[in-house]
Amino acid sequence: MKAVALTRYLPINDPASLVDVDLPKPTAAGQDLLVRVEAVSVNPVDTKIRRSRPGVVESSPRVLGWDAAGVVEAVGPEVTLFKPGDEVFYAGSIMRPGTNAEFHLVDQRIVGRKPRSLSFAEAAALPLTALTAGEAFFDRLGIDPHGAHCGRTLLIIGGAGGVGSIAIQLARLAGLTVLATASRTESRAWVEKLGAHHVLDHAKPLRPQLEAAGAKHVDYIANFTDTDGYWDAMVDLIRPQGRIVTIVEPRGPVALGALMGKSASVAWELMFTRSMFGTDDMIEQHRLLDEVAALVDSGRLRTTHAETLGPINAASLRGAHARLETGRTIGKLVLAGW
Ligand SMILES: NC(=O)c1ccc[n+]([C@@H]2O[C@H](COP(=O)([O-])OP(=O)(O)OC[C@H]3O[C@@H](n4cnc5c(N)ncnc54)[C@H](OP(=O)(O)O)[C@@H]3O)[C@@H](O)[C@H]2O)c1
Repeated sequence: MKAVALTRYLPINDPASLVDVDLPKPTAAGQDLLVRVEAVSVNPVDTKIRRSRPGVVESSPRVLGWDAAGVVEAVGPEVTLFKPGDEVFYAGSIMRPGTNAEFHLVDQRIVGRKPRSLSFAEAAALPLTALTAGEAFFDRLGIDPHGAHCGRTLLIIGGAGGVGSIAIQLARLAGLTVLATASRTESRAWVEKLGAHHVLDHAKPLRPQLEAAGAKHVDYIANFTDTDGYWDAMVDLIRPQGRIVTIVEPRGPVALGALMGKSASVAWELMFTRSMFGTDDMIEQHRLLDEVAALVDSGRLRTTHAETLGPINAASLRGAHARLETGRTIGKLVLAGW
């Protein structure tokens, strides 16, 4: 089967950083689905891993990519949720080969049915970021998706990126008042279109902008961009007894004690935790993706797909990584077809 892989961890302008390879087609066992991948999207995890081990040479090609939409080709003997021919979308597990391959194995418990109203490319934009934002809000911050916390305020740091773009929509559906950051005319327009009530410019101090929006503090903060860089601002802006979630690993120690005076809590969200540890509630990712599909098909959520950059091959994937590494993409970049 066709796949795109690395054997060395190189800068993206090196043509050897991602290469086209031919790999054996895998076989489904246990709870695995074998999926024929039709579209993938790129995420910062791809570029972070691609740069993570300079000097190391892999003995066999390593396939990256943790977002796919495709069709179930075959199922393992313990599969109960899907059958061959089903259209699915999912992010997969960081412990296993990625989705940048014609055929891909994934545990049924972390797969959702693809939204019927979306193309494969539009669907591939969603899973990793929807799981991240959904788990961050509903599992880590304890926000009720059905509106019990209606009217509470949420600051999203990094509103126009992949995660922010779906997060704004999920927060609006939960009834929150959403303040999202964006620093450019295009990204500001994008987050406004997705439903942010207020847009703050993260290139400028946040406190005066929050006050101009009529608030002294916010009930929740979701940091989707830089934990260390916004730590002091988050300590300042969070309401006493409020809750912060961050999805970005800090570069160094953070001053947790600074939150004690406010009895504010901080939670970490890693979308891969459930699959990495095989937690008892791993199937929650299946449920969340099915819920996202239902919301999309009923017109209440929209895809965050921004652009399809070409077919799934090394050249287009190198282009997608290069775009993502600018840190300035809006929504999601997708590759579709082989
Ligand atoms: N823990 C997890 O499970 C998990 C899951 C997904 C992603 N992540 C991590 O979360 C981060 C965001 O992921 P993503 O997919 O949303 O990234 P992305 O799509 O690459 O984000 C791009 C956006 O970031 C904004 N941005 C750039 N610099 C910023 C700054 N200093 N302050 C605030 N916003 C800034 C830009 O907005 P402007 O153009 O308006 O400046 C741009 O629209 C990455 O570090 C990723 O690795 C973690």
